[in-house]
Amino acid sequence: MKTREELISAANYDESRVPSYTLPSPLDKADGSKVANAFEWVNFQRPRILELYKNELYGKLPPRPDRTSFELLSCREDALGGIAVRKEYRIHFEMNNGVSHAIDMLLYIPANAAGPVPAFLGLNFKGNHAATPEKDVLITGQRMPGLDISDESRGVQTARWNFEETIRRGYASATICYHDIFPDGPEHWDKSIYRLFCGNAAPASMNESYSAISAWAWGLSRALDCLETEPMVNAAKVAVHGHSRLGKSSLWAGANDPRFRLVISNDSGCAGAALFKRCYGENVAIIKSRFPHWFRDSFAKYMENEASMTFDQHFLISLIAPRPVCIASATEDLWADPKGEFLSGVHAAEVYRLFGVEGLGTDVMPPPDTPLTGQVSYHLRTGKHDQTPQDWAHYLDLADTYLRTE
Ligand code: GCU
Repeated sequence: MKTREELISAANYDESRVPSYTLPSPLDKADGSKVANAFEWVNFQRPRILELYKNELYGKLPPRPDRTSFELLSCREDALGGIAVRKEYRIHFEMNNGVSHAIDMLLYIPANAAGPVPAFLGLNFKGNHAATPEKDVLITGQRMPGLDISDESRGVQTARWNFEETIRRGYASATICYHDIFPDGPEHWDKSIYRLFCGNAAPASMNESYSAISAWAWGLSRALDCLETEPMVNAAKVAVHGHSRLGKSSLWAGANDPRFRLVISNDSGCAGAALFKRCYGENVAIIKSRFPHWFRDSFAKYMENEASMTFDQHFLISLIAPRPVCIASATEDLWADPKGEFLSGVHAAEVYRLFGVEGLGTDVMPPPDTPLTGQVSYHLRTGKHDQTPQDWAHYLDLADTYLRTE
């Protein structure tokens, strides 16, 4: 086995060296026949593929805790210069075994809303306080050893969150720090929500069946539970979004929880939207050796062995059908394989068609900065690996189309 460094330096960025591969179809049934209609997909094939993903890649999702409650910690009516109401919720989880865990959600809502508004929901990397320009937001992320939670870390990811524009366009926007759900490191199982289910200290051996990505997806669903209790939000119209590893998590959350009406993957790359079998940029051996806890242990069998996979990431996109899904890439983000991200959208089309919905409608990748809008949409931004106001402009346009109508 090569070392991590050897694997990374051998990563392929040459289109002519992409191995030839045959993509399996999500419509192929175990008995060799094809799924014929949406009924068969929803009742038989989709559950089978969801199970396959739990077994082969992300692991199981934990159950709901024995008790969940929502505590309103703060409410400001004059947030973001007066355009927003800002709320901070603490989501408490309690178990009959006495273990409890809590995560804090930051929520902005347009101050002038006439009624409940659609919302965006996503996890953040550096704490709620880092996502906003407002200096009096609670510090979060403390469960992650070494994370900078000093006052200097306030507001450092404001551009990535774009709260003001989202509010101006009439949407609420909520976020939670992903470290509060599972601090991002292979040695942090005992600080994660998995503690709830293990009488306190979750052993690393849980990685045999579970993963950090499943914990983050679970956390997004618990945040949606909280939004369902918030009178100023229309929780039937929530877009789940995420950047990079958190885009992998938003896709997995969207696949598991049909309450998410629009699913957005921003630069999610390997084990997100990108096709594994292209082996372009990051590949299974690299990602599983660097981030073993993101996936269940059994995923290791595909290291340097993508050809043996009986599925690929267009199956994951298909699990979201017929709900709208948006795949976004950046031109300089070759690590995430923009073309592979685009192709998973292309190849999910056969499942969307079962529902009478046209997928991407083309297999030709659009030029940069000319988004394809539709129920399956694709957007290639000029620039680096990031979630920028330009990406948000596209997501807000999609929300205008898909979260404003019945
Ligand atoms: C690393 C990792 C990617 C991941 C990214 C991120 O680059 O290799 O798979 O998407 O981190 O989350 O920023």
